[in-house]
Amino acid sequence: MKNIYLNIFKPNSINLRVAKKNIENNKVIGLPTETVYGLAGNAYSNKSVKKIFSLKKRPLYNPLIIHYKNLEKAKNDVVINNNFIKLYNTLCPGPITFILKKKISSKISSIATAKKNTVAIRFPKHKVAQKLLGLLAVPLAAPSANISSRLSPTSSTDVIEEFKNKIKFVLDGGKSKIGLESTIVDLTNIPKILRPGSVTPKKISNILKKKVKIDVKSKKIKSPGQLKFHYSPGIPVKMNKQRSSKKNEAIILFGKKTGKGKNLFNLSENGNLIEAANNLYKTLRKVKNNGFKSIAVNKIPNIGIGVAINDRLKRASKK
Ligand code: TXA
Ligand code: MG
Repeated sequence: MKNIYLNIFKPNSINLRVAKKNIENNKVIGLPTETVYGLAGNAYSNKSVKKIFSLKKRPLYNPLIIHYKNLEKAKNDVVINNNFIKLYNTLCPGPITFILKKKISSKISSIATAKKNTVAIRFPKHKVAQKLLGLLAVPLAAPSANISSRLSPTSSTDVIEEFKNKIKFVLDGGKSKIGLESTIVDLTNIPKILRPGSVTPKKISNILKKKVKIDVKSKKIKSPGQLKFHYSPGIPVKMNKQRSSKKNEAIILFGKKTGKGKNLFNLSENGNLIEAANNLYKTLRKVKNNGFKSIAVNKIPNIGIGVAINDRLKRASKK
């Protein structure tokens, strides 16, 4: 593709209307959120949802997250419970996804939910996502806008890099503020976290006033987000390494480090985990695009959002 900016559009009112039309016509668009960019389509339309699965090369057993502007709009599709209300009131809109029971009367495409009787819902905070959802009468099914098992995109150009000309319309919302996918919490039973993110177990536990643990190995859900190999930059990744051991290997640092070299990249010189999370996918993408053949990553403290960083690195490093 000659000009990768050709399919990227400023989120002004005219383009938001074009985005709305695209969704109403069952087309799929690139959508900014505060976590990562999504590949968004009409969640009530099988046609639209099928396109998402096929563009992403996503296995049909892996359900999508459904995005709403607010609770009012979600009520028709999911069974609400007390834990959900507590978390919603404190954290939404924001970077958290809830697994709830799907209402029998729900209009969500059964392909989007992989024929399950549960559904993942989320209320993104990003202004552009909020605006578009406000214009629409339907919710948006929106997985991260990457080919299955690859790195999630954190800018509009990442989306085009991933899908080239197959995506004709991406709304530009700048760089994703968080840079890692939302925390997923299953509320269909005793609350548990299925995917760590920037909303930590401690925060969720405090709101619910009970201990909520991470259970990424849950047997019930067969999904790539929980499969071992995921979030891959397309070259081998090794964790907990102080230095590179091979030619053409990049080293990703964390914290103040001495030394210079074209193969050195730092996630956060100040040792700030939130900054490191924000730089993670961006840096992995850059290293790959600079032609390195493998990546060694420093040890990342396993606290706060560091748990989510290590979760992604662990999966990226699996063969
Ligand atoms: O931050 C995010 O959540 C981004 C932005 C675009 O919103 N979206 C995202 O979607 O990360 P995706 O499709 O890449 O990841 C969704 C995860 C998958 O691991 C899927 O298996 C899980 O959510 N999921 C969806 N429905 C589920 C369900 N009913 N039960 C359990 N897990 C579910
Ligand atoms: Mg994803």
